[in-house]
Amino acid sequence: MALAANDQTKPNDLDPFWMPFTANRQFKQQPRMFVEAEGVHYTTADGRKVLDGTSGLWCCNAGHRRKPIIEAVQKQVEKLDFAPTFQMGHPLSFEFASRLTQMVEGFSQVFFTNSGSESVDTALKIALAYQRAIGQGTRTRLIGRERGYHGVGFGGISVGGIVANRKTFGPMLNGVDHLPHTHDLAKNAYTRGEPEHGLNLADELERIVALHDASTIAAVIVEPVAGSTGVLIPPKGYLKRLREICDKHGILLIFDEVITGFGRLGAPFATDYFGVKPDLFTTAKGITNAVVPMGAVFCRDGIYDAFMNAPDNTIELFHGYTYSGHPLACAAGLATIDLYKDEGLFERAAELAPYWEDGLHSLKGGNHVIDIRNIGMVGAIELAGIPGKPTARAFDAFLKAYDKGLLIRTTGDIIALSPPLIVEKSHIDFIVDTVGDVLKTVH
Ligand SMILES: Cc1ncc(COP(=O)(O)O)c(C=O)c1O
Repeated sequence: MALAANDQTKPNDLDPFWMPFTANRQFKQQPRMFVEAEGVHYTTADGRKVLDGTSGLWCCNAGHRRKPIIEAVQKQVEKLDFAPTFQMGHPLSFEFASRLTQMVEGFSQVFFTNSGSESVDTALKIALAYQRAIGQGTRTRLIGRERGYHGVGFGGISVGGIVANRKTFGPMLNGVDHLPHTHDLAKNAYTRGEPEHGLNLADELERIVALHDASTIAAVIVEPVAGSTGVLIPPKGYLKRLREICDKHGILLIFDEVITGFGRLGAPFATDYFGVKPDLFTTAKGITNAVVPMGAVFCRDGIYDAFMNAPDNTIELFHGYTYSGHPLACAAGLATIDLYKDEGLFERAAELAPYWEDGLHSLKGGNHVIDIRNIGMVGAIELAGIPGKPTARAFDAFLKAYDKGLLIRTTGDIIALSPPLIVEKSHIDFIVDTVGDVLKTVH
């Protein structure tokens, strides 16, 4: 498709970019382009302001175009653009790792990646290698969960539980099994926070252990709060129960905190929010406020040490990315965590959460609404799908919201919301009012 070549807000050819997770033909017929961002708003190519109800893709937790982060990256790129971290180093990566480990007790190392998908594959590989390092090399199975999203690497889609993300890509990793998901509208619809029902679903892990034998299972991976499949909040006590079962059987527990990390729930991490410590947890997104791509896997005390027994000149873990600990990402990350702290954004998220909750739940009774749920600064409004046309209704809501100046995210027939943690109450009112208006006319 050809557009005016001399206008920088309009690319002259939309075809070469094969867009990720996008209906390419539909988008390219009627493109939706952002050309600027500031605070909680995007500006579209036609000059409209759109309130970012999704923090980009759950990643710009401190809002957009934040000066301290921009300046830190600019300063760094002038000084050291890149340095390898394979058998070499640069100070910022050590400083950032050390600052990150200070954010959460009991996790003494981080392994840097460039994305959530890489963090997941890294965590799975560390889990397998750790079991082997401690003499448990028969433990090679990985257990995920239905409706889990762990990115798009082969490891992530194998333990993930989204059919569309799996079915076209062959057999994936073998030796994987899945827990049932915890989403139960019949029992838990319109719950505020953690649902009452569903603790027993954690016990399904015992059934899986009985089937395969604990000696074959390396790790269980779950999102503490599943984001991408529509904000599925763990039933009360569920994560603790998973922890207990893992401990009983020598299985590592991995939390995928790519969304929940860095304040989304009103605490630094979901491990803090729920008071349950995994063995490994993955992060990305909010780690640099999305200014430079980065991820990090947090490893609990003792994991790294288990690899440190071979002679000193041995590479202990044959894993890593060219850009693990990239100087610009570290500069962005350090400035980001300073900003979170200086502005008290995690506390702010916790303070705003009740207002957010009340706003969202005021939409009960809207057309087609069958559930509203929330935790921290995350919320979801689930719509009844149009029979025979799954996702069409929520997508219609997405387009209508965009026309009214609000960016929402939809998955299936669920509207997911996760605004930047700098939102004001007036912005929350705008989000709620706009979604309310959209629901009046949605197909
Ligand atoms: C829980 C979780 N894990 C992994 C990922 C993948 O992250 P990325 O898209 O950065 O690879 C996501 C992305 O949404 C996620 O929500």
